[in-house]
Amino acid sequence: MHVILLLLSLLPFPLALALSHPHAAAHAQLKRHGLHLRQDILHGLLTGPGPFPQDPPWVPDYPTTFDGFCAPNSSQTVGTFAGPTLPSITDLLKRGAFVERSGTGLKLLGEDFRMVGTNVYWLGLDENVIPDPSYPSKTRVIEVMGIVSAMRGTVIRAHTLGISFGNPLSVMPGPDTFNEAAYEPIDFAILMARIYGIKLQIPLVDNYNWYHGGKYQFIGWAGIPWSGTGAAITPPDVGAYFYNTSSIVDSFKAYITHHLNHVNQYTGIAYKDDPTILGWETGNELAAVLFNDGPAPPAWTAEIAGLIKSIAPKHLVVDGTYGFYPETGQLQVSQIDIFSDHFYPPSIARFQAGLALTQAADRVYLAGEWDWTGQFGGDTINDFTAALEAGQGVGDFFWSLFGHDDKCCLYVEHNDGYSFYYPGRTQDMHNKALVMVQHAYNMNQDTPPEVVPAVACPQYSFPDSLFPSGLNIANLGL
Ligand SMILES: *[C@@H]1O[C@H](CO)[C@@H](O)[C@H](O)[C@H]1NC(C)=O
Ligand SMILES: *[C@@H]1O[C@H](CO)[C@@H](O)[C@H](O)[C@H]1NC(C)=O
Repeated sequence: MHVILLLLSLLPFPLALALSHPHAAAHAQLKRHGLHLRQDILHGLLTGPGPFPQDPPWVPDYPTTFDGFCAPNSSQTVGTFAGPTLPSITDLLKRGAFVERSGTGLKLLGEDFRMVGTNVYWLGLDENVIPDPSYPSKTRVIEVMGIVSAMRGTVIRAHTLGISFGNPLSVMPGPDTFNEAAYEPIDFAILMARIYGIKLQIPLVDNYNWYHGGKYQFIGWAGIPWSGTGAAITPPDVGAYFYNTSSIVDSFKAYITHHLNHVNQYTGIAYKDDPTILGWETGNELAAVLFNDGPAPPAWTAEIAGLIKSIAPKHLVVDGTYGFYPETGQLQVSQIDIFSDHFYPPSIARFQAGLALTQAADRVYLAGEWDWTGQFGGDTINDFTAALEAGQGVGDFFWSLFGHDDKCCLYVEHNDGYSFYYPGRTQDMHNKALVMVQHAYNMNQDTPPEVVPAVACPQYSFPDSLFPSGLNIANLGL
């Protein structure tokens, strides 16, 4: 069941005047860092955003209020994040650079880089709209990029930018069949992440059977019968075929090869060459068979991670296994950069046990999902985020973020019990938003704000020259 609110009408789109002239100093700095970008891409970078709220705050010159609940709610906040602005040279260099691993930490242009942000699973295909599923509107995608920027997030984990199977709207609607039309929303989300200075972590398959598909689609396409939804699958051991059947492994590898070689229609950059993509995750919450019952077989993880590294050598690879099984050899897979766990509820003890294992293996630790609500107890949001901050090199993404509809008034709702509606639709949610924002600033070693930043919706204040040249904004359907 999903509460559904879809939005057809759009606001006028007041484009700011283009900032057009590439900057000679930027050229020189790019060169010093060994970045030889195409002129058209450089042009986009130069006029791109910083990932930070503006100071002084920008005030939209178009109406953003429809009723008492529309964004932004200026009574709760000071300042409004209007959209991307001209970045510093450092920021634009970071946008064009790959995140690299150095032992148990990450680096971006030689500086420590902490993954912090949220899960936005619906960017490539959404189930919370009519018809279900549909591609998300561009207004919503842009607003959520603005929210993550204002929250000081550095990375979004986005399932449906990589998990897209078995639906007519999927990248892979059926066995060995590719649907190029499904790339439009994925390309657009990647474009906008780049414009907002946000990196992406993209899982490639799901352990469960939800609307966007996952491992069970591949199993069914191989002629092996099963039925069920989510993690309730019959027969319960059928999930093992995903790893142990060479034709299924080959089909998944063909998908990965196709996906990573796709050239983004908006940026002209193949996914495998795009520094906006921090890395690929071998899957979401992968288990040995059904749910939380062991790791994806380490030999399979090595094969899949090896394929990803062979195609996209500058991208990081995250082990998609749900949790830690050190006795299985999971942590010895050399092609893996990042090991992760999910937290329902938050547990500092569980986090520290996984962190110790990860650091012993000289890799990076990620809390890839955690429950921000506190509804099932566990450690408090304040204690858990403080523990994450104290863990060297650690990254984390809370589960999961939603914004407004196309009118910037009603939230698009999802009923899994963990939806965070920025900037918070209850006082408790708003209080926790402040903790999450302050946490992200702390992770970035920056001084946290004392209020939750307001985010203008729609986020249409960026200059049109911020887009790659040759891209006709009129064709985006904004
Ligand atoms: C701000 O939001 C709260 C609920 O979160 C609402 O009660 C209040 O009326 C809103 N204020 C304005 C000015 O929109
Ligand atoms: C693959 O897993 C299934 C389900 O557990 C099992 O029945 C089958 O025998 C396995 N095949 C191989 C080749 O191990």
